[in-house]
Amino acid sequence: MASELNINICIDVLDSAEELTPQEREAMELAQQAANDAYAPYSNFLVGAALVLEDGTMFKGSNQENAAYPSGLCAERTALFAMSAHHPNTKIRMIAVTARRRSEQHYLPAMPCGACRQVMAEYEHKQGEPIPVLLQGPEGKFYRLRSVSDLLPFQFNKEHL
Ligand code: THU
Repeated sequence: MASELNINICIDVLDSAEELTPQEREAMELAQQAANDAYAPYSNFLVGAALVLEDGTMFKGSNQENAAYPSGLCAERTALFAMSAHHPNTKIRMIAVTARRRSEQHYLPAMPCGACRQVMAEYEHKQGEPIPVLLQGPEGKFYRLRSVSDLLPFQFNKEHL
């Protein structure tokens, strides 16, 4: 008989910003500010990401679109690539992501796309320590994941090369 591989994923659902730690709140506020600066004239879907580095420094990114649509880049990867270019040996202690439509003030669930999950997984693997992820959820809620592996279980990484 075939055996099973069970993967256990645990996601905290926080009902409001009051349930965030002060550092999580600061990171989410920076992600919200970053979303305001998104260059998204085609989708008008504004995404912001904030990274907390090991020394407490925060780093932000927003989606950058292009008239040649596939040439654009998501907020998460904009933040991660810029961070790694500026601070190549720094560990990441948190990633926070949020999104909203340009025409509306309220924030929407921010579900990182597959490519961004893969890139987050690369940096988590590189640093050898989990990167907690904080995502904007629906109706003012937030999702807290203990690691990128919970966003991308059963992942491909350099061990498989
Ligand atoms: N987007 C992100 O910035 N992050 C994601 O994880 C999903 C999608 C951006 C890409 C594009 O500029 C817009 O959202 C609509 O897809």
